[in-house]
Amino acid sequence: MAQLWGGRFTGQTDRLAYRFNASLSFDQRLLEEDIQGSIAHVSMLAKQEILTKEEKERIIEGLTGILEDTKQGRLAITEEYEDIHSFVEANLIQRIGDAGKKLHTGRSRNDQVALDMRLYIRHQVDRTDGLLKTLLQTLYRLMEQHLDTYMPGFTHLQKAQPVTLSHHLGAYFEMFRRDRQRMADLRRRMNYCPLGAGALAGTTYPLDRDYTARLLGFLGPTQNSMDSVSDRDYVIEFLAALSTVMMHLSRFCEEIILWNSNEYGFVELDDAYSTGSSIMPQKKNPDIAELIRGKTGRVYGALMGMLTTMKAIPLAYNKDMQEDKEQTFDAIDTVQDCLTLFNGMLSTMRFCKDVMEKSAMRGFTNATDAADYLVGKGVPFRDAHRIIGELVLYCIGQKKSIEECSLEELKKICPVFEKDVYEAICLKTCVEKRLTIGAPGQKAMKAALACYREYLQEE
Ligand code: ARG
Repeated sequence: MAQLWGGRFTGQTDRLAYRFNASLSFDQRLLEEDIQGSIAHVSMLAKQEILTKEEKERIIEGLTGILEDTKQGRLAITEEYEDIHSFVEANLIQRIGDAGKKLHTGRSRNDQVALDMRLYIRHQVDRTDGLLKTLLQTLYRLMEQHLDTYMPGFTHLQKAQPVTLSHHLGAYFEMFRRDRQRMADLRRRMNYCPLGAGALAGTTYPLDRDYTARLLGFLGPTQNSMDSVSDRDYVIEFLAALSTVMMHLSRFCEEIILWNSNEYGFVELDDAYSTGSSIMPQKKNPDIAELIRGKTGRVYGALMGMLTTMKAIPLAYNKDMQEDKEQTFDAIDTVQDCLTLFNGMLSTMRFCKDVMEKSAMRGFTNATDAADYLVGKGVPFRDAHRIIGELVLYCIGQKKSIEECSLEELKKICPVFEKDVYEAICLKTCVEKRLTIGAPGQKAMKAALACYREYLQEE
């Protein structure tokens, strides 16, 4: 056991207690951030003449060497260290001797780990944002291709009114765009540097916290040292944003699973993103979509876990907070894998345009338009609604669609019907006449696409 403390102790730590307390097995993920933070810290210490220039240079050289050697596999992160901070410091002292013992001047592991975690989360916010942007680009491409791919729109999973695939995908474009906004919001709020908060009450050394913050790309230093070491709001906000991403992915997967079913037949998944059955030779299952839907649970779990961990922690740092890592790391890996796979699955999927279009024509999806047609001829909407209801009932009995009725049949139900009704209720008219902002008609969709194109070019 190589611990950073011990002077005050005479007895040994119980083995299980040691293992229970140690975080190295998972916080080694923070190696790069830990070293980056330490380099900024000693640079500031030297600027403030708390360390000499030579000491600073030796320390930075040592730290860079540790990072390189670990990356190259020349230095192993072994279990005798309690956490990644101890690993780095012990190795530094081994490498450069006494100067290494000065690294921790004016710093505590409490502000150190708070910094590491912030740097790590900030980086992961950016990575997640990049994956979301890639997905939006895929959606945009598909939307451009499917402006006239008609499909039924549903409410209550019952056919409602016809839309286009472009329009349907546009709903997801909006969701993932909001997800990116959430990333940007939380990034802005979290982008302050906790280093220099010390254990909880700042320090007596004349630290230049503005300088360290700047070196690490933060907007500035945090303003209260007790909050700095005990704040994990940004982890919770990130997990909440990730949970929302998963909720969106899961809804989309649910639809893809339905669309890919024999009953719908709207899409066919590429072989690369489906799997077979060990017993039923005919099967091609949407396992990836199902797994993404399933993994939503563990990301929500991480959010609930973190909220619960934080809910009764008195100020300032308490060891409970070490529990911020494993679930968060797992949630980040999960969401990033899901976004990558989902993007691959979506961009290789085959859309069966004919099936979608045929489906859009069944199920009386033009009933609203038939009522609107009567309104156009002067019938009050409520009456028109009732008349078309009766017509639909008649059609169900006759096993035909509205447009399959002859004009005589239609006139029997309402004499207002004329020849022009067929044009007014055909699939194309039903979609293309919907031109209000945000509607599926091509003109409206093209306006939306122009906004989306501009948005995607922005950054
Ligand atoms: N492994 C610890 C964590 O993740 C580092 C901070 C330790 N601080 C302390 N006072 N024991 O929170």
